[in-house]
Amino acid sequence: MTPHTEPTPATPATATAAGTARRRVLVFRELPEDQLRRLQDAHDVIVANPRVPAQRAAFDAALADADGMIGSSYPVDDAMLARAPRLQVISSVSVGVDNYPLTALQSRGITLCHTPGVLTETTADTIFGLVIAASRRMVELANLVRDGHWTKNIGEDHFGWDVHGKTLGIVGFGRIGQAVARRAALGFGMPVLYHARRPVDLGEQAPELAGRATYAAFDDLLAGADIVALVLPLSAATAGMIGPAQFARMRPGAIFINGARGGLVQEDALLQALDSGHLRAAGLDVFATEPLPLDSPLRTHPRVTALPHIGSATVETRHAMATLATTNLLDALAGRTPQAVYRSGRA
Ligand code: DGY
Repeated sequence: MTPHTEPTPATPATATAAGTARRRVLVFRELPEDQLRRLQDAHDVIVANPRVPAQRAAFDAALADADGMIGSSYPVDDAMLARAPRLQVISSVSVGVDNYPLTALQSRGITLCHTPGVLTETTADTIFGLVIAASRRMVELANLVRDGHWTKNIGEDHFGWDVHGKTLGIVGFGRIGQAVARRAALGFGMPVLYHARRPVDLGEQAPELAGRATYAAFDDLLAGADIVALVLPLSAATAGMIGPAQFARMRPGAIFINGARGGLVQEDALLQALDSGHLRAAGLDVFATEPLPLDSPLRTHPRVTALPHIGSATVETRHAMATLATTNLLDALAGRTPQAVYRSGRA
């Protein structure tokens, strides 16, 4: 999409057909054309992605009179908010809200919207894909074929590890965690342990998992699972929660999967657990720094399956996320209650 660095005609006081005043909207990451058009029909829109050096100045300038912002994957901090005195709403094209200063938003009365629900199944597909890929060494062995090394039948040194029947430990049991559990329990006959702030009433929320998923204390889950998967939000309380002690508690030969946020994990400790042979493998869609720096040992580690943060990245789901985020923003600016306002503890 071509970036627009000029606003559509600036008429803050004019009324639209629906009778609502046109407002200033800053789009800070590309939106599909149809969603951008919905915004432009109702408001004066500037598209400026601060990650693109040529658009940075336009982004900075647009903050000064933005009433609403929509985008993702860019950290918004207190200083940036201070340069946006009119801001009423941020609509994030993501379910995770770790890029936003929640306390400052709350004290300024700025509404934060996000996109839960529409990405649940796609993200669970990615996470379960990592479970299979890491366990069965699919990327490593696909590369062996690609590189011309499939010259004889593979032997034991290339065997993987069964997924079906293994115990999966899921840390975080919201929508996505439960969707991963369904794939594991119903599709692969895997006993599921889960940990969340409190046990989930499965009979009420996920009857298909009743008798198949069991609540476990965090340490018991780490010690009792063959495969440990992180599916929980990053916050001050969860940052760095998986370090040397947690890896040491995992079973020798366990597989570690992170489909949530890189900041949950102390990456040095992960490398140490892999290099010592304590962990069999890791499947990672997220990293402390993204894009993953070229010099990160995780990038080329033989027992790491690394993906470029593709949890929700399908054509259908990214469009659904953009549509929901656009609707959230339009509703908020029109004084209606958006469908998906972020409320602490519900991501
Ligand atoms: C999300 O929606 O939070 C995904 O991780 C994409 O950032």
